[in-house]
Amino acid sequence: MTTRKPIIAGNWKMNLNHFEANLLVQKLAASLTAEQLEAVETVVLPPFTDLRTVESVIADGKLKIKYGAQDVSPHAGGAYTGEIAGAFLAKLGCSYAVIGHSERREYHNESDELINAKNKAAFAAGLVPIFCVGEGLDIREAGNQVEHVLAQVDAGLEGLKTEQLQQIVIAYEPVWAIGTGKTATPDDAQEVCGAIRARLVEKFGAEVADVVRIQYGGSVKAANIAQIMAQPDVDGALVGGASLDAEEFVSIVRFPE
Ligand code: G3P
Repeated sequence: MTTRKPIIAGNWKMNLNHFEANLLVQKLAASLTAEQLEAVETVVLPPFTDLRTVESVIADGKLKIKYGAQDVSPHAGGAYTGEIAGAFLAKLGCSYAVIGHSERREYHNESDELINAKNKAAFAAGLVPIFCVGEGLDIREAGNQVEHVLAQVDAGLEGLKTEQLQQIVIAYEPVWAIGTGKTATPDDAQEVCGAIRARLVEKFGAEVADVVRIQYGGSVKAANIAQIMAQPDVDGALVGGASLDAEEFVSIVRFPE
């Protein structure tokens, strides 16, 4: 079990309109106590169009649930049709932005260089990246997962300042475990999360590596969260499908009990 504060984040992906978002956050608010939210940092990551609604519900209830966006533009503003600037997200009270999710790497051809630029843009706007890395099935089957993920980590963190590195959240999501019901074993998760931390020690020193929180993501649910969180280098989870169900997500957040 980690000594870092656990962080459980629900990535809603392209699900829930703003009415549905309102309902889900209300349910989370009604089910999680201030103590539970103090023990486990709890984050929701709705579609952009839900953020204003989520902001209002959370502000009204004075809740300690945090929220963020699922992407951010690498640009600060200007003629970039369809893009969303980090400053707009910060203005809506976002704390986090998911950067480099495998679905964006795959369906939008996001390169390591672009992801690095987005990590920098997020920090410049006052957001903390939840920076995603992970290998596909072919890479896992060839046994090259650690090498592959470390290359993504190196590229994504290139040029970040020490104080930024100390805040970033890294999410290890093996692509073959996303939405498939196939969870990596706790040992698989630890192998890669441990290798990420060892790389952080090697490149940036223990003062950085000891405080960086590393999440596991891929078919996390209430039934497997405790085993995953028992691993020494896993500090949280990035939850997809199970975060759309209030009861299930609440049970995940309450894993220490
Ligand atoms: O970002 C979360 C994610 O990709 C995992 O999704 O549905 O397997 O929990 P899921």
